[in-house]
Amino acid sequence: MRQITPAQIATFLVLLALALALGVATTWLVLGRAPLGDFRGVVLVAAGVVFIYLWAFAIYRLFLRVFPLQEGELPEGSRAEFAAQVNILFYLMLFNSLIRTHFLPVPLLRLVYQALGARFGRNSYSAGVLLDPPLVEMGDNCIIGHDAALFCHAIEGRRFALGRIRLGHNVTIGATAVVMSDVSIGDGAIVSAGAVVRKGTRIGAGEVWGGVPAKRLRPGPDQPVEEIYTSP
Ligand SMILES: CC(C)(COP(=O)(O)OP(=O)(O)OC[C@H]1O[C@@H](n2cnc3c(N)ncnc32)[C@H](O)[C@@H]1OP(=O)(O)O)[C@@H](O)C(=O)NCCC(=O)NCCS
Repeated sequence: MRQITPAQIATFLVLLALALALGVATTWLVLGRAPLGDFRGVVLVAAGVVFIYLWAFAIYRLFLRVFPLQEGELPEGSRAEFAAQVNILFYLMLFNSLIRTHFLPVPLLRLVYQALGARFGRNSYSAGVLLDPPLVEMGDNCIIGHDAALFCHAIEGRRFALGRIRLGHNVTIGATAVVMSDVSIGDGAIVSAGAVVRKGTRIGAGEVWGGVPAKRLRPGPDQPVEEIYTSP
């Protein structure tokens, strides 16, 4: 893994301090004079945490506007690597604790992922973890199963690359499955529970994939017979 540099840490800390300051100020402006009675302390702390996270989402999205995540290989010392490393700091220090606790109900988690930049179609939900929401998009009626993990980064020794994950409509990602970077999954496809879908995999519409590493278990409904026996 590449080292996170002092400049990247300093950038994150400045943005974090801004979110903290704005969160505390907002809490004070909204609730500072409200008659909260005996629960004043608890309400102010809870509201403070919510406002700090809301500001952190906004600041994170603004940061990504200025330093967009770039797909492909990230050369050492590049602007693209800088953006990706600060993105990782946001996750490690702030967003992981929201996403990984199983504390938030799944419908609320959908809103959190959307606030972080993921694209969810209608009636699509994740009971798993999206580690790089700005690079994940899915159509309608998709389910990411319990404790599945989708990550759009490839950190392999000194190598660091990003690749988008795209899901069509009606896709099922089985419980505890892992989907790596740069993967496309067609409409109606199913990834089995516990599968590991390798980087760069293309899964066709209606196909069923499973295993470690994932291979096609069943072809899509419209695939010609010869293709069924020649592709993986
Ligand atoms: C992959 C899956 C859809 C197959 O279900 P199915 O259509 O009923 O098929 P079967 O159970 O009859 O299995 C069909 C083949 O797939 C294989 N298979 C099934 N589950 C598998 C898995 N998790 N890993 C590897 N192979 C698997 C079976 O061994 C069988 O192989 P065979 O034909 O060579 O004997 C199902 O096992 C699955 O994993 N569903 C995911 C559900 C889920 O996690 N939803 C989200 C919940 S939060």
